[in-house]
Amino acid sequence: MSAEHRPGDDGSDNADSDIATGSADSEIATGSADGSADGTGTGATDRLGGAPVPFLDLGLQHRAIAADVDTAFARILDRCSFVGGSDVGEFEIAFGAYCGAEHAVGVANGTDAIVMALRALGIGPGDRVAVPANTFIATAEAVALVGGRVVVVDCDPIHQLIDPDSVANAMRSGRLSAVIAVDLYGQRAPIDQLVPLVRNHGAFLIEDAAQAQGATRFGAGIGSGVDVATTSFYPGKNLGAYGDGGAVITDSPALAHHVRLIANHGSRVRYQHEVVGTNSRLDTMQAAVLNAKLAHLDGWNEQRSAAATRYDEMLRDRADLRLPVEMRGNRHVWHVYNVRVHPSWRHRIVDRLNERGIGAAIHYPVAVHRTAAFADRVDIADGGCPAAESSAASTLSLPMFPGITLEQQERVVGTLIAALGELAAEHDVAHDPAKAPTPA
Ligand SMILES: Cc1ncc(COP(=O)(O)O)c(C=O)c1O
Repeated sequence: MSAEHRPGDDGSDNADSDIATGSADSEIATGSADGSADGTGTGATDRLGGAPVPFLDLGLQHRAIAADVDTAFARILDRCSFVGGSDVGEFEIAFGAYCGAEHAVGVANGTDAIVMALRALGIGPGDRVAVPANTFIATAEAVALVGGRVVVVDCDPIHQLIDPDSVANAMRSGRLSAVIAVDLYGQRAPIDQLVPLVRNHGAFLIEDAAQAQGATRFGAGIGSGVDVATTSFYPGKNLGAYGDGGAVITDSPALAHHVRLIANHGSRVRYQHEVVGTNSRLDTMQAAVLNAKLAHLDGWNEQRSAAATRYDEMLRDRADLRLPVEMRGNRHVWHVYNVRVHPSWRHRIVDRLNERGIGAAIHYPVAVHRTAAFADRVDIADGGCPAAESSAASTLSLPMFPGITLEQQERVVGTLIAALGELAAEHDVAHDPAKAPTPA
């Protein structure tokens, strides 16, 4: 949000997700950003004195809804009704309305949500699907799981969101059946720019909004303008459950119906199986948690936004850091606040932050086409993915969660600046800024 857009400067409303940090992805079961098992996300005791700052503090959110969750769990336990039921139905209606969509179908996780959206659109073996190179691996996995071919496309170097020009390049080298636009770090992809491109090409547009519950683009919520959107309720997400969960969001009744069918063994009526489906339903208890949390989501997202503004203000003068930028027209929900540093310093900075009790993490260190899983099974858009590779090499994520205090942020920033200073001194550039690595 540093350079191009600040809340209010173009009349758009800036509001307010989890990543990765652990939270953004399922890589960390604790919900901590760095995968630490202690749930603090710091991965270390604080050797320098002062309280550690976790990457993510899920306890704060739980305390806000604990009474509601206790009541709902007691009711569900009393009924012994653990799958389906009114909690799921209520959540689907409320979440669909929240997004401004006709339908939201609760499913077991965000990966299944993409798989089932693809299947419902008829995407399968032989279909080529564009996926940004800088996303959590689940986006690409879903394409591979339906038998499709992943075509990686680049991101915009400023906003780190999918680059429509790279999508156009991918289209020139072969037909795409679908494009999956990822709302990376909490802001909607440039859907308005992608729609004409994708429509002219005769492809489907899917929005992976796992990291962006509550985000809007020109006032429109996730799912708006696209064929179908998907999201994840992994605990660290902006709207996180107490286990796995996900949803498919669409205005199409036929698509919603088809996803519901696939998610429930291809069956509407017990033991009548119309298509080959699977078991991917949203769990009743998770739905109860999500019902309790949904009412808080906007407020929590606003707190994330305020925290992002504070980081911007504290860090904007640093020549050795590149700050995140909110795309014009977007209301960013700051699932992740990432900064970019010189690649040769990145891991050392993250290590120093973690050693000193600051829960820093990396989202994501390896571009999709550079992973062992996908290196030999993707096509790459003409022009390659230099921006995504640069981002993978240089990005690091700072603690971000609703309720993070000014003092905590000051500690994060102080520790980060100290680490940068130490590295500069070690490299003998303290008195010659021209020799300091500039951000990639
Ligand atoms: C961009 C993105 N897509 C998909 C997923 C997959 O969601 P889940 O972990 O619920 O399967 C995640 C996160 O985990 C994600 O960050």
